[in-house]
Amino acid sequence: MLNIALPKGRLGEKVYSMFEKAGFPCPSINENNRKLIFENGEKGIRYFWVKPSDVSIYVEKGAADIGVAGKDILLEYEPNVYELLDLNIGVCRMAVAGSKDFYDDGSRILRVATKFTNITSNYYSGIGRDIDIIKLNGSIEIAPILGLSDVIVDIVETGTTLKENNLEVKTTIMPISARLIANKSSFKFKGAKIEEIAKTIREQVKNSD
Ligand code: PRP
Repeated sequence: MLNIALPKGRLGEKVYSMFEKAGFPCPSINENNRKLIFENGEKGIRYFWVKPSDVSIYVEKGAADIGVAGKDILLEYEPNVYELLDLNIGVCRMAVAGSKDFYDDGSRILRVATKFTNITSNYYSGIGRDIDIIKLNGSIEIAPILGLSDVIVDIVETGTTLKENNLEVKTTIMPISARLIANKSSFKFKGAKIEEIAKTIREQVKNSD
């Protein structure tokens, strides 16, 4: 049985349809219920829905053989997994944002609010800028509005959240998209099956370009 961790939510539905098209359907997944685990015994696969930021934990620990995680999560937590493929979905960017009238003149330590503390400290140490990180768990955009921070580091997809809160992108740190990842020992012992799936999904990604 190959265990596959899918990120719960809109992205997960897109991901599942890629696996389905690759020849690994599990029709019961579309039934409207709150089950989290779905099996297709004939195809030897088992899907489970997990919180998107937890996919890499399941895969790193071997509870899932493969899974799909955002590049943001992989850069933030640096799990010990193989990154097999860029799926070219869930495309967005990691950016520094702040209010329109804020300009960083470098004269004092910059206060940065974020969920992504590792990405943030790597980015600012790379450009040699001293910062204070304020770790938040969501609604990051509020921080500069209330004066809790000077800027934020967060995911920007359509830009609507920033716009509606009178913020703007100051710098793009990196592009982000969803990646197919594999547990390292699963890749050794179930490599043929994982490769079979990765190969057909790779074709789909190529054809959608
Ligand atoms: C993310 C991110 C932004 C928003 C950006 O939040 O933190 O708030 O999406 O998207 P946009 O550019 O299309 O407006 P998410 O909805 O994942 O929830 P979160 O607050 O838990 O991070």
